[in-house]
Amino acid sequence: MTQIKNICCIGAGYVGGPTMAVIAQKCPDVNVTVVDINEKRIAAWNDPNVENIPIYEPGLSEIVKEARDRNLFFSTDVNAAIDKADMIFISVNTPTKTYGIGKGMAADLKWIELCARQIAEVAKNDKIIVEKSTLPVRTAAALKDILDNTGNGVKYQILSNPEFLAEGTAVEDLQNPDRVLIGGDIDSPEGKEAMDALVNIYATWVPKENILTTNVWSSELSKLTANAFLAQRVSSINAMSELCEKTGADVNEVAKAVGMDSRVGSKFLKASVGFGGSCFQKDILNLVYIAKSFGLHEVADYWEQVILMNDHQKRRFAAKIVKTLYNTVSGKKIAILGWAFKKDTNDTRESAAIYVTDYLLSEQAEVVVYDPKVKPEQVYADLEYLCTHSSEEIRERVTVVQNADEACKEAHAIAVLTEWDEFKELNWKAVYENMLKPAFLFDGRRLLDKKTKEELGFEFFSIGN
Ligand code: UDX
Ligand code: ADP
Repeated sequence: MTQIKNICCIGAGYVGGPTMAVIAQKCPDVNVTVVDINEKRIAAWNDPNVENIPIYEPGLSEIVKEARDRNLFFSTDVNAAIDKADMIFISVNTPTKTYGIGKGMAADLKWIELCARQIAEVAKNDKIIVEKSTLPVRTAAALKDILDNTGNGVKYQILSNPEFLAEGTAVEDLQNPDRVLIGGDIDSPEGKEAMDALVNIYATWVPKENILTTNVWSSELSKLTANAFLAQRVSSINAMSELCEKTGADVNEVAKAVGMDSRVGSKFLKASVGFGGSCFQKDILNLVYIAKSFGLHEVADYWEQVILMNDHQKRRFAAKIVKTLYNTVSGKKIAILGWAFKKDTNDTRESAAIYVTDYLLSEQAEVVVYDPKVKPEQVYADLEYLCTHSSEEIRERVTVVQNADEACKEAHAIAVLTEWDEFKELNWKAVYENMLKPAFLFDGRRLLDKKTKEELGFEFFSIGN
């Protein structure tokens, strides 16, 4: 049986960093080296003060403190780590393509291919390659092709081991996963041996019955399907939120009533200003692209609707602000509370806040942003990435401040876009007193209590109410 002694993980991002930290914590006999071409990122992972690691996740700094330089290492020497490893996890980014065929839909596999070529060039002994990044179905075949055709004659086994952690709860999700999924070549003894090697790593802390083994394609497709189902629930409840606003129903009450049916379940039924994050949109677009490429247009259209609904939700929230403020926000100060795509993370990819702000900028608003974990440069970079407004205009119109009170001072309206706990605890009376009147408060997360806010004098609007 293959005993894994050295693991290399290519990519020290939101997936690779936390996953490897937990593997290193749980398997002190295995050396885990996380490599990345981004020198700044690796330097941050190695910062003597673990509070400065580049990814904010509750509980992560403590694990890094425990395992770093014991059996967890962060390095930019990709080749050395590949050479030494028995098992290589690929956790690089696979964003939606921004050019050429499949633009705006297909996953860009450029970085995956570069990894494969680098592994092929460096490897001198047999390796198990693990796809950790979410990939289109049948990527494993492409990886194998490159490795077998450009390598030094060494043998590779390709496994798919999709990550189901959610940001903000990554450590908890990794330590107590609902399931671990491992796809591989179940029909060959070598394939089975490679799968067993990975099963044994996880079995150190995950009950064996929670570790599923499947063929590679099922594993790859299960990840896309899981994210599509979760996102679909959010779009479904968001569709209902609009209907609730028209009919006098309350979306939280509807969600509770529906979710208590054990066949439906209560999770992922929280209406919001729209889902964000690096996975949902990307993975559904990927699914849509795959379906289209097989000529399955009805399947593609069905899933695309989840994205269209989400875009609509973000847009209609922003439009509601403009409409409520007497059809103009030109020159008005709007405070945005929360920039991350959900609480307890500093990740802003696809965050609804970006799109709402972009819309408000098109209406010539003056926007003041506060988020407890997101740096000002990230806010500017996110807006610039959309290319709707020039960098100069963005920097002139958008201010990023260090606390919520400052953001809300003399504002015409406040929009709560991330459900950070601290926003519940603000001194809302003082916030109200320091605002222009009427003081408008838009809750995109159903975070705040309507009654107490209205008693303070706010004109209060929340999703689905
Ligand atoms: C998701 C999957 O949950 C995870 O299994 C996968 O590995 C990666 O993609 P993540 O994007 O980190 O994880 O966060 P998630 O908690 O799923 O939230 C995604 C978005 O949906 C967030 O913007 C969140 O605020 C929103 N959301 C979630 C809602 O609006 N309502 C809900 O009920 C749940
Ligand atoms: P995810 O959320 O999937 O973890 P991130 O963008 O946070 O995505 O992390 C991916 C990381 O992979 C980035 O830090 C990037 O620099 C790194 N990366 C991409 N390509 C390579 C490569 N060929 N070699 C090493 N690191 C890479």
